[in-house]
Amino acid sequence: MTMRIGWIGCGTHANEMLLPQITRYDVSLVGMCDTDEERLGRTAQRFGVPEAGRTRDWKALLARDDLDAVAIAAGPAAHHAMGIAALDRGLPVFLEKPPAPTAAAADQLARAAKRSGKPCVLGFMKRYSTANRIGGNIVRGDGFGMPASFLGEYMTAPTYFEKDPDYTGFYLHHCVHYFDLVPWLMGEVADIGVRHHQLAPGKLLLHVDFRFASGGIGTLVMGTHQSRGTPMEWWQVMADHQRVEVRNVHEVRHYRHPPFKVSRTDATLDGAVDTLVWEPNLTVAANEDHKGYHSLMGDFLKAVRGEMVDVPDASDGARAMHLLERVVAKIK
Ligand SMILES: NC(=O)c1ccc[n+]([C@@H]2O[C@H](COP(=O)([O-])OP(=O)(O)OC[C@H]3O[C@@H](n4cnc5c(N)ncnc54)[C@H](O)[C@@H]3O)[C@@H](O)[C@H]2O)c1
Repeated sequence: MTMRIGWIGCGTHANEMLLPQITRYDVSLVGMCDTDEERLGRTAQRFGVPEAGRTRDWKALLARDDLDAVAIAAGPAAHHAMGIAALDRGLPVFLEKPPAPTAAAADQLARAAKRSGKPCVLGFMKRYSTANRIGGNIVRGDGFGMPASFLGEYMTAPTYFEKDPDYTGFYLHHCVHYFDLVPWLMGEVADIGVRHHQLAPGKLLLHVDFRFASGGIGTLVMGTHQSRGTPMEWWQVMADHQRVEVRNVHEVRHYRHPPFKVSRTDATLDGAVDTLVWEPNLTVAANEDHKGYHSLMGDFLKAVRGEMVDVPDASDGARAMHLLERVVAKIK
């Protein structure tokens, strides 16, 4: 059944990542909204939204009676206001991150989702990148054991912050991703701390320190002083005689407990103990999306259809925002 979607927010992210992926599924973009007339027209034209479905008033879009769901990529304050209004109207929602400008507002959104009983799927696509999914399934799978430690890096460049070293955008648009990914891998966070160092105005470095409810520990390095021309992400989870590493969301290594091989003339690779490596074929002539947007959109549509799917939801969004605020409060 073709899903009828109302879309709000025709910015860079919607145009480059979300709309190209959601339109690979059986959807019809029946309505589209942006306050910016030019962006609205260009995006609607590109993705085939009829003239009559275009509006600059998001409330008019939500008032339509022919929508199966709404998707919103418009910024923190808009996500909060529009997300709650859509849920209160009984519409399933896809909401980009961050869910709201503050943790208290993200809690309101989570309450609205609970009240409505409708899915509110958050744009935490890091969980959906193929490599992270493989890594996450290994960590949660039989035989890995209790994760003892998380170590990771999630960097960006000073582009925006050198002009104005206010790091709000870095926290809300960037760091929030890993305050979802880390508990997704390691379980609930019992305690969190941070050390920070500003190399120069606009160049901030954070070392976030976690204690998990399981007893495990973690360190996450985030900063605004690396080049976006280089890979920006890697993480590792260790358990007893096991570890999984994911580099640059496309390379997975699973280390286990192989014997030494140096004195073995019959040395070979044993599928049960030797290191497993996964990398995608990046030259395949298929429209694959290893960053996760495509599979996240797929799960959103399944949730709209009423299927049971384990999606990042409004309560995960609130958890991430609370962790973020606890860290930011310590950076003074
Ligand atoms: N998950 C990811 O990887 C990822 C990547 C980039 C951006 N994002 C998120 O997506 C969101 C949008 O980012 P972007 O880079 O596309 O920003 P953008 O500024 O390019 O686009 C936002 C669009 O929303 C429109 N808008 C804002 N308020 C509106 C309102 N009240 N009514 C109608 N339209 C409104 C703006 O006019 C603009 O066209 C942000 O929250 C950002 O964090 C997520």
